[in-house]
Amino acid sequence: MTASELVKKVKTLPAISQAAIKLVNLLDQPAVSNEEVIEVLRYDTLLTAKLLKSCNSPYFGLQKPVASVDQAVLILGHHQILNVVWSLAFDGVMSTPPPGYSAEARQLWSHSLQAALAAETLVKRGLPFDLEAPVAFTAGLLHDIGKLVFSHVLTPEIMNAVRARVTEDGLTRTEAEKEILGTDHAEVGACLLQSWRLPEELIEGVAHHHQPVSHPNPQLSLLTHTANCLSHLIGSTIGWEGFAFRIDAGAMNALKITPETLQNLMISVHDSAKKAEHFMNFS
Ligand SMILES: [Fe+2]
Ligand SMILES: [Fe+2]
Repeated sequence: MTASELVKKVKTLPAISQAAIKLVNLLDQPAVSNEEVIEVLRYDTLLTAKLLKSCNSPYFGLQKPVASVDQAVLILGHHQILNVVWSLAFDGVMSTPPPGYSAEARQLWSHSLQAALAAETLVKRGLPFDLEAPVAFTAGLLHDIGKLVFSHVLTPEIMNAVRARVTEDGLTRTEAEKEILGTDHAEVGACLLQSWRLPEELIEGVAHHHQPVSHPNPQLSLLTHTANCLSHLIGSTIGWEGFAFRIDAGAMNALKITPETLQNLMISVHDSAKKAEHFMNFS
C-alpha cells in the first residue's frame, strides 16, 4: 500500500474545514495581521462557535462576554486560535474512536499539543536556522496527523500486528508500519498535507519527524523530531507507544541539547502543556 492510496481512502477527516487549512497556511507567513485571521474565521460557523466558547471560559475570567470573532482573536492570539482549530480536527476521533485505533486516539491530541508547545519552546530557546514560532507550533501539532488517517482506514487486526512487532521484536513504530503496510504514519501525514497544499516546510517537518534532516541544511524536521521525543519523554503516550521511538543524536547535537538542558526543557514543556490542557478542557 502506498501513502497516497491510504490518503485517498480518507476523503475527509472529521471537522477539518477549509477555514482550518487556510488558517494554517496563513499563520505560516510572517507578520500576519489580526484582520487577515478574522477574515478566514468569520465564515466558519463551527470555528467561530468554538472560539467564542474558549474566550468566554472561566480560564480568561472576563467581566464582559466576548461576542465576536474580532474580539476573540484579540484575546486569544494566533497560537491559541491554531490550538482551537486543530483540536476540532481531533474531536471526532476522540469522541468516537474508530476500531483500528481505540485508546491511542485519546492520547493523540494531548501528545500533539505537547509536541507543538515543545517546538515553540525550542524556537524561543534559539535554533541554528530561521523559523517563526507559529510555524514550529503548527508543525508540532500536525506531526502525527498520519495516525489519524490510519485510524480511519486500518482494521484492529492490522494495528495489533504493528503493535506486536514493536512490543515483541523491538522495532520502532515506523519500522513496524513500514514492514506491515509498506508505508508509515509520517509519510502518510506528509501526503495528506500535500493534498491540502500546505507549505513545503511543514510537509518536510511531518515527513521526516522520525528521520530528521540536518544536511546539507538543517530542516524543520530537526524540530518536529525533538519536539516529538520531548513529548514522549514527559509521558504524553502511555503503554507500548511510549517506548516505540528513537532519539536521533544528530538532532540533539544540532539543537545543542545536553542531558541537563533536556531535563529543563521537559519541565518547561510539561508546565506549559498543563496550562494549555486546562485551557482546552474548560467545558
Ligand atoms: Fe510519529
Ligand atoms: Fe509523535
